[in-house]
Amino acid sequence: SSATPATGEWIMVTGGAGYIGSHTLVELIGAGFGCRVVDNFSNSCEESLRRVQELTGKPDMLDWVNADLRDEAAVAAAFEGRKFGGVIHFAGLKAVGKSVEEPLAYYDNNIVGTLVLLRQMRKAGCGLIIFSSSATVYGDGSEPPFAETAPVGRGVTNPYGWTKFMLEQVMIDAARADEGLRVVLLRYFNPVGAHASGRIGEDPVGIPNNLMPYVLQVAVGRRKELTVFGEDYATADGTAERDYVHVVDLAKGHLAALSAFVGGKAPAGLEEDEAAHPRTAVFNLGTGNAISVKQVVTAMSAVLGRELPHTFGPRRAGDLARVFADTSKAERVLGWKAGLTIEDMCKDGWRWQQANPRGFRDEPAE
Ligand code: NAD
Ligand code: WQD
Repeated sequence: SSATPATGEWIMVTGGAGYIGSHTLVELIGAGFGCRVVDNFSNSCEESLRRVQELTGKPDMLDWVNADLRDEAAVAAAFEGRKFGGVIHFAGLKAVGKSVEEPLAYYDNNIVGTLVLLRQMRKAGCGLIIFSSSATVYGDGSEPPFAETAPVGRGVTNPYGWTKFMLEQVMIDAARADEGLRVVLLRYFNPVGAHASGRIGEDPVGIPNNLMPYVLQVAVGRRKELTVFGEDYATADGTAERDYVHVVDLAKGHLAALSAFVGGKAPAGLEEDEAAHPRTAVFNLGTGNAISVKQVVTAMSAVLGRELPHTFGPRRAGDLARVFADTSKAERVLGWKAGLTIEDMCKDGWRWQQANPRGFRDEPAE
């Protein structure tokens, strides 16, 4: 479609068909932005975008291009026909274990795709990129809560994590060299949950690696029981603690970041960032709360009204005992704070899972 919004600007959203991207589209479009998604659907499908159109009731504010970011001509073409006020860059491969097995595929997809994107943004005169980084850049060498100033790179244990670490540096250097470029690095903690409508959510392919999708598949009967990885951590109940953040809160964090920087603006309070790396700002997006695996099991069991089947096993290699965010900077500078609880995350995740036992694939319930 080619309708132009009365107010607001068009934003390019790479990887917008995916889990976090689709939820962010809902918030952006709700706020009056138009969105063009560039996605190769390697880990998503067009159905999520059709559901975003239906949820927002503004189908003309979303269009999409089926392209791989590494395809330079296709990315150049995606920038044609509109002026984009910024890019939100979600596109990337994210499975930690797979990245260890196939490091070259991960480096190629994540690094090369981003280099092409930055080059084509410059050609198109687009001067704002908001990047999906990760709490995985922190750890080993400092204690949580992690502030944005905590050391990065020391705790990275896999190629996926290295792509985030390396791409942060690529963007820092690109912004330092180009007065026309502003970079916003968003470090997500553990995004979970789903839109309250139950129409969009996380749709993992194969056996889930992450806790919440696994829990939801146990709840719906697709898997027998959860194995809790490690019961002997130095935490209150012995299980590992993470900062789970509702994906809708996270999506609103992107809207807050975009609103703060779009149109060449920059919010007050970035003196420290500017001193370290001109035109690059870094924000944690988490809740600031540490929740244990046992607490997740308890919260989900309460939502289900029955005990979630689970057992205890050994620790998973590479896992830290406690990871959680210092979220004060995002609150102070962007005016963003997560408001939803672990109960909301379980309730909304369960609603999505129940209504879509097979995710976006049009198959009947088991
Ligand atoms: P996702 O897999 O659901 O979404 C990523 C999207 O990017 C998918 O739609 C996929 O098809 C697309 N994509 C991948 N490679 C592409 C390429 N070369 N060209 C075009 N499109 C491509 O993942 P998500 O959970 O929504 O994560 C979004 C971003 O946030 C990723 O960069 C991820 O690394 C990062 N992140 C995720 C988490 C998390 O736990 N989900 C945590 C921290 C950071
Ligand atoms: C959470 C907790 C597990 C599965 C990963 C990436 C990170 C980021 C978010 C992208 C841990 C425990 C899990 C299971 C379990 N992604 N667990 N049984 O490891 O904190 O972070 O996703 O950037 O980079 O590493 O998330 O959901 O895998 O695990 O007990 O079957 O649940 O040990 O303590 P993690 P997770």
